[in-house]
Amino acid sequence: MSKKRLGMLTGGGDCPGLNAVIRAIARKGMQDGYEIVGIRNGWKGMIEKDFMILDRGSVTGILHRGGTILGTSRTNPRKMDGAVERIFQNFKDLSLDVLIAIGGDDTLGVAYDLYQKGLATIGVPKTIDNDLPGTDYTFGYDTAVNIAMEAIDRLHSTAESHHRVLVVELMGRHAGWITIGAGMAGGADFILIPEFPMTMEEVAGQIKSRHSKGRTFSIIAVAEGFKISGMDVTQTKEKDAFGNVRLGGVGEIVARELEKLTGFETRFVVLGHVQRGGEPTAFDRILGTRYGLKAAELASKGQFGKMVALRGTEIITTDLQAVTKSRLVPRELYEDAKVFFG
Ligand code: F6P
Repeated sequence: MSKKRLGMLTGGGDCPGLNAVIRAIARKGMQDGYEIVGIRNGWKGMIEKDFMILDRGSVTGILHRGGTILGTSRTNPRKMDGAVERIFQNFKDLSLDVLIAIGGDDTLGVAYDLYQKGLATIGVPKTIDNDLPGTDYTFGYDTAVNIAMEAIDRLHSTAESHHRVLVVELMGRHAGWITIGAGMAGGADFILIPEFPMTMEEVAGQIKSRHSKGRTFSIIAVAEGFKISGMDVTQTKEKDAFGNVRLGGVGEIVARELEKLTGFETRFVVLGHVQRGGEPTAFDRILGTRYGLKAAELASKGQFGKMVALRGTEIITTDLQAVTKSRLVPRELYEDAKVFFG
């Protein structure tokens, strides 16, 4: 009798810890008697039947590596004629028994739709943005926050030496998790996130007040999706297949406006994709590993339409449907951060 087959794919923006998940799913899946099929480049590979068989050797030495050995894409099958049908056909042609999708809201939203249409899918929550509901943390977030915190640490000495205001723009389209995390850990003087819009006059007023008390520099952490009250800061109308606007540029606008309003010399830095690159932290390696093991366990038990999640310190199972909304920074956490503003 031929072996059961478990497929997996990684979709959306890459994220430190993806290879830890892949390794854990493969190792546990093999132990449970599956042949492991790696689908290349997210949903694109499922549409094009682009795959590789993963054996023990293919997942050796990848735990600590950033990125994903399977490749990724932001392909949205729901926007392509006949793509969903091709995915069903390829699932059959590849003799898959289950498909584990490792991704954020876009990738897992597709997995949920396909599950509702009858495909055996399971989800693993991934994103540096940490904005998926249903789980306390997504893997990748911890690494991104640590990279951003280190950048803020480094900006302090140069800002202080030159008596400047330094604005650092961090990732986060709808939610300011990275910015509030790195801002709090790095001791930023202001944290500007999409959930809590402000006018530039308010920020400038607080900086002036800080500097009037003898401080000669300020560090401002701003999320790429921050909305300046009373100003249209949509940087580009370009959208990806999931309708996400490409962001980047608000840091420059914040810096320009603040220099105008305060008269203090200001510079800006866009940290960008550095936040997603390189090796995962121990936390993300362990979380990714535990997620992968649990996802493989769900596969063996035939529990489809589910997502693995972290609740407190436990890995639990929740419905894939949970991912269809964004999880935002709550007011209480923002109020905690605000104590240190100025
Ligand atoms: O979803 C993760 C993320 O890194 C967001 O924080 C960011 O807005 C986006 O991806 C950038 O996407 P891309 O790599 O496609 O430019």
